[in-house]
Parts: sequence; structure tokens; C-alpha cells
Amino acid sequence: MDKIHINGGIPLKGKVKISGAKNAALPLMAASILSSEPLTLSNIPHLSDITTMANLLVYLGVDLHVDGRNDNGNCGRILTLNGHDVNDICAPYEIVRKMRASIVVMGPLLARFGRAEISLPGGCAIGARPIDLHLHALEKMGAKVELKDGYVKVGTQDGKLRGADITFEKVSVGATENSLMAASLAFGTTILRNAAKEPEVSDLAQCLVKMGAKIQGIGTDTLTIEGVEKLSAAQHSVLPDRIEAGTYAIAAAITGGKVTINGINPEILQSTLDILKQSGVNIFTTENSVTVDGVGNLQPVDVETEPYPGFPTDMQAQLVALMSLAQGTSHISEHIFENRFMHIPELQRMGADIKIEGNQLTIKGVESFHGAEVMATDLRASVAMVLAALQAKEQTTISRVYHIDRGYERIEEKLCALGANIVRAKDV
Ligand code: UD1
Repeated sequence: MDKIHINGGIPLKGKVKISGAKNAALPLMAASILSSEPLTLSNIPHLSDITTMANLLVYLGVDLHVDGRNDNGNCGRILTLNGHDVNDICAPYEIVRKMRASIVVMGPLLARFGRAEISLPGGCAIGARPIDLHLHALEKMGAKVELKDGYVKVGTQDGKLRGADITFEKVSVGATENSLMAASLAFGTTILRNAAKEPEVSDLAQCLVKMGAKIQGIGTDTLTIEGVEKLSAAQHSVLPDRIEAGTYAIAAAITGGKVTINGINPEILQSTLDILKQSGVNIFTTENSVTVDGVGNLQPVDVETEPYPGFPTDMQAQLVALMSLAQGTSHISEHIFENRFMHIPELQRMGADIKIEGNQLTIKGVESFHGAEVMATDLRASVAMVLAALQAKEQTTISRVYHIDRGYERIEEKLCALGANIVRAKDV
């Protein structure tokens, strides 16, 4: 297992290009199951979660072709996925256990083939993460659900889902995506109320429209989908990653550097930029870039994680790292996931003064982080340690960095280009 060594204390300076969003790419790839014609996706980031989804789709019978060429100056790859010969409807434990987002193949398989079997993902480092909202929506569309031998089996009697009026009890990105894809091929009209409005959901909806789906209300919390008989070939470029962009924004702020983040519409990371401004960081935006000038003298903030357009749970760990250096006490509450505080003990080992009470953090700012040996525990927790290490003057060693490779494309390369001293070493 690889380790990363970081010698911090260097203000980051320069420009960084944002990759395609992992969380948009995964459901977009799954959408290829819905059609027997090719779906070409560009700006696909090179990440281990993408490889896991590719392996799952190939297992199911999707014909997948990868093209490494640049896409109009974007670094991402181009994937062509053809669902013509899909011949399996079962997502096995061996693949699902590696990535819970595998669940997004359930809606497409059920919609196109009338049944699907998905291994239950099991517990997860960031809490229970149930799938009841996915199942409830599919049941409303006429599917029968059976839990057997560690698998969830869904099926319809005549192979066809029926449109339904569905109100989600809680906002769920994955359940909205699964239902949206299922409804695209259902008989009749489906209304999804209290749907997730995350930009990645809208990106999926826009791609489905290119494939021939009839969807109204994209970007709002009510999606109306008129089912069509079949979906066709389409091309789509994956939305840039707002969480990666927000992470580089904090990297600039935490090191007191100045970084221009290119290839991102600032609107989709507004809540993060608003909090950074509130903490005294200078932000300049254009239509597709954000420049972050970290001036020091960080002010504390009070933040709650919320569904989009609120402050994202996927930025919570990074903000905790930043607020650990504020001149005063910050309060951060996690409202999306339980047990999403694994970064706290590691940040404490690096000198942070943080108290956990239930889902609330009280963070008293300290002068500086100090280098330590720490362990990556999940994707965003790991990157919070990278951020702390970039500020600490001593060396930090982060082990189990495969968590970071799930979601941050070429992170060492991008940080080195901004002046960071960061190297990867193979664990022996
Ligand atoms: C997606 C993102 C993840 C992000 C999260 C919230 C992907 C691949 N992952 O995860 O990075 O942190 O959105 O923005 O896009 N819930 C239930 N029952 C369900 C489904 C969810 O109770 O059936 C709960 C979850 O436990 C959580 C909340 O709903 O408390 C939101 O989860 P959800 O939006 O579904 O997250 P994911 O789609 O798994």
C-alpha cells in the first residue's frame, strides 16, 4: 500500500485544472445499461472508483472502449460504453464491496431487463448508508423487492416499470439517480418529489435527455419523467468536479498561497466559496475559474452540511482542517452522514484542537499543524490530512492513500505543480 510524504509550509502558487466529477461520471456510466446503442462520455477522470464501475459494467456485458486522448484540452479520458449485449443482471459482492455507488446500476438494469440483483453493500466507514429510499421508489414503480443471501433482488411481473408519484422522505443523490434512470424507460409518467438537486444529478438528467429521455424540472427538487420506449446513442462531457475544486481552494487558503482553479463554473461551488469569503479568504471568479488568495488571519465560521445548494458534506473534512487554524472557535455540524468524523483523531494528532459532541464539532483555532504519521480512513478524511500536512512545517506521512486515489486524479502531480513538496512511496 502506498504512502504519501509531505513536507509542508510552502504557500501554493499557480494554476490547477479541475478533472471530471467522479460522482457525475459513475451514474453516467451506469446509464449505458439503459440503451442498446453506444454512450460516449468524455472528461472521465482516471480514478480507481471509475475502474471499479468499468469492471462492473464489463461484468454485466457492457462493451467498453477507453480512449486516453485529450478532450478539447481536458485531461480526461473518453469512454464509449455500449449496452447492446448486456447479459447479466447481477452485481456481485466482489465488486459492490469495493464501491457502494455500484448501487446505481439497479435502476437501469430493472428498467431495461425487468429485474436486477445487487449485492448489499454492507457497512461502510462513514456510517450505515442504507438503500431503503432507492427500494421504496422502485417499489412505487411496481417492482417487487426481496432480500436474500446478501442480495437485494428487484423484479417486475411483466418486465415493465410503471410511472408513479414518488416523494422521497429524505434527499438522496443515489436514490434520485436510480429512480430517474428507471423512470426514463418506465410506462407512463413519474414524478420525483424532494429529489436531490446536486449538479451531478442534473448532469445525469441532461445526458439522459440527449439519449432521448423526456425529463422536466432539471435542477429543481421536482423531476417529471415521461417514460419512453427506448433510449439511443449520445455523447456527453462529464461535469467538472466541484469537490476537487473546493479542495484546491482550501489548499490555497490553508497554505496562504494564491491558486487559480480552472475549468469550473464557480456557481456550483458557491456555498464553499461563500464560507471561504466569510473566513476572510479573498476569492475572484470568472465564468470558468476561481482564484483563491489566502491572506492568513482566518476568521472562524459556523457551518452545517446540507443537501445542495447548501454546504456539501464532501467538503466538511477539508473545512475542518482549515478552521483548525482560524483565530477563534468554529462550529461545524454534520447533517448528512453519521460517523463522518474519522479525520478528527488524525487531525488532533497533527495538533488540531477539536471537540466532538454528537454530530457537532467545536474547533478552537491553533497556530499551526505539526507533521505526524497519520492514516487515511476514507476519501474526504484523507484529503483533509493532505491539507493539514501542506500547512505543517515538518514532514507528514499518510498511509493507506488508496482512499485518496478513489477520488482525486493525479493529486501529487497537481500539488507539485503548485509548488508543494509531496512524494509517493510504495509501502514495503
Ligand atoms: C452521494 C455522493 C457522496 C455524497 C452524498 C451526499 C456519489 C457516488 N456519492 O452519495 O459523495 O457525500 O451523495 O451528498 O454520488 N439515505 C437513506 N436511505 C437511502 C439512501 C440514502 O437513508 O436509501 C441517507 C444516507 O444515509 C445519508 C443521506 O440519505 O444520510 C444522503 O445520502 P445520499 O444522498 O443517498 O448519498 P449517496 O448517493 O450515497
